[in-house]
Amino acid sequence: MENGAPMTWNPSTEGPPSREVQALFSERQFRSVLDVGCGWGRNLAPFVRDANVIHGFDLDAEAVKHAATKLGYRDGIRIWQDDIRSTPLTGQYELVICLGVLHFLSTSERAGCYQKIKRWVEPAGFIIIVQFNAVNPIPSDLAELMPDVPADSSEILSAFEDWHVVSHESYTYDDDHDNGRIHHTHSIDRLIARRPA
Ligand SMILES: C[S@@+](CC[C@H](N)C(=O)[O-])C[C@H]1O[C@@H](n2cnc3c(N)ncnc32)[C@H](O)[C@@H]1O
Repeated sequence: MENGAPMTWNPSTEGPPSREVQALFSERQFRSVLDVGCGWGRNLAPFVRDANVIHGFDLDAEAVKHAATKLGYRDGIRIWQDDIRSTPLTGQYELVICLGVLHFLSTSERAGCYQKIKRWVEPAGFIIIVQFNAVNPIPSDLAELMPDVPADSSEILSAFEDWHVVSHESYTYDDDHDNGRIHHTHSIDRLIARRPA
């Protein structure tokens, strides 16, 4: 992916929030949530009723438009177009979600983004990060978009080694997209971690 070029591969435009979002949402209330690479907004939707601050950004203008429509308009909800690599965002949130985004970046960009994400989380706040790794090679039709994914789980675990790991899963699975026309095998890391108080 060229720097700043739109990245629109998003097989989850509709559908339910990720299982990590559902698990945390069922356990506690969040006052403020940021979704980095929010896509069409499925992972922010559960928080609309009760959170004061719901922020999300995405590189893709079309996704921003859909997410803004899905989440609605009120004080505290803001969805905008931005790039995690260059955003000037400095706020802090109780929960930061970054699902299916960081595997598009280079290893050095990702290293900077892990640190950014950590700064965006309040003390005792949470992150949810889900991303592919190369334990199973990236499917050939996606390889150009994801030329530099983490080799395995060690990169993300070492980025958050000073945080409390709430849950971490790493596994390989088969997936179908586009009504079964596209078959992929993915290896994935799914991390929930909590910043020390
Ligand atoms: C696979 S989709 C996931 C969308 C959403 N997180 C979800 O789970 O439904 C990846 C999203 O990351 C966005 N994206 C890719 N690179 C990005 C970047 N550098 N900064 C912000 N968003 C980015 C894409 O535009 C796309 O909407």
